[in-house]
Amino acid sequence: MEDLDSLTASLLAEIARTDSAAALEELRVSALGKKGTITGMMKTLGAMDAEERKVKGAAFNAAKDRIAAALDARKAELGARELDARLAFERVDVTLPVRHEAQGRIHPVSQVTEEITAIFADMGFTVAEGPDVEDDWHNFTALNIPPNHPARQMHDTFYLPSRAADAQSKAGEKGETMLLRTHTSPVQIRHMQSGPPPHRIIAPGRTYRCDSDMTHTPMFHQVEGLVIDRDIHMGHLKGCLEEFLRAIFGVPDLKYRLRPSHFPFTEPSAEMDIGCSRKGGVLKIGEGDDWLEILGCGMVHPKVLEYAGVDPNVWQGFAFGLGIDRIAMLKYGIPDLRAFFEADVRWLRHYGFPANDVPSLATGLNR
Ligand code: DAH
Repeated sequence: MEDLDSLTASLLAEIARTDSAAALEELRVSALGKKGTITGMMKTLGAMDAEERKVKGAAFNAAKDRIAAALDARKAELGARELDARLAFERVDVTLPVRHEAQGRIHPVSQVTEEITAIFADMGFTVAEGPDVEDDWHNFTALNIPPNHPARQMHDTFYLPSRAADAQSKAGEKGETMLLRTHTSPVQIRHMQSGPPPHRIIAPGRTYRCDSDMTHTPMFHQVEGLVIDRDIHMGHLKGCLEEFLRAIFGVPDLKYRLRPSHFPFTEPSAEMDIGCSRKGGVLKIGEGDDWLEILGCGMVHPKVLEYAGVDPNVWQGFAFGLGIDRIAMLKYGIPDLRAFFEADVRWLRHYGFPANDVPSLATGLNR
């Protein structure tokens, strides 16, 4: 027992003297490690008779616990001291100016996409996604656009080169022909196939058509909306889009109208126009007697529901699709769409947004 007491006392003294984490670890191994002094003593218990083992076992364990606790306490102390030293040494002068060349800008399309998402998220929509490289069935057939339907020509589709030859002959067969999606509407189908109704999603993303002028680029952005439930009607569609347009343009009493239209995937279909003025060649939203077409919408066609595996006798809903770039042009007065995709940093510095300007309804979208 004397051995144990003196060993414990000398170990505790040594622990108190140790002033580096590495030395402390060495000390721990030499006492409590596999070949450590305390461990060695524990091993002698096996050769003792029951009575002696009981007494000494308890004493060994108590010593082991004291040493372990002292090691832990010293380790914490050394850790705190090391941190203090680092904090004193590593100083950052937060008043130094930001290096100008390191500043990035958020593209107006990204900013508007975030704004649109914030508005619909507030109405309980979640964001869904689909592939840019889509098959003919999801892009057309399941949306009630059968082979040889004139809407296929209107979309100026980019077919993937290797399969371009059979694009005409096999169009419409499920998954046969691959293409760059001409709209975000196929995400409706993919989302409905992914799980049971109800559904309430928006799907922002890239879309592609073979077209290029002041207001068209081969790649552009759309956002699709889809709401499917048991008792959805056009009143919901109207209310939802009214709320959206007022929020995105920041005009509380924005004038708008729903005009009858046609899309193969909705019945009835409509287009929404917002009030504007074009006086002196300057387009202004929310005033004047002119109209500007802003989006397409309607009640999802029963055939589309069927293609997507949803029973049209139980479920119904509405869908809409709008061009994101168009909204960005209108909101920020950017006249030429092609500039959006020229990657000119001077343009981006002028029209872009600071990275920390995260759109949210709480802070306001129209700053
Ligand atoms: N997919 C249509 C287009 O690209 C836009 C659209 C119209 C989407 C009506 C819809 C809708 O969901 O209901 O031109």
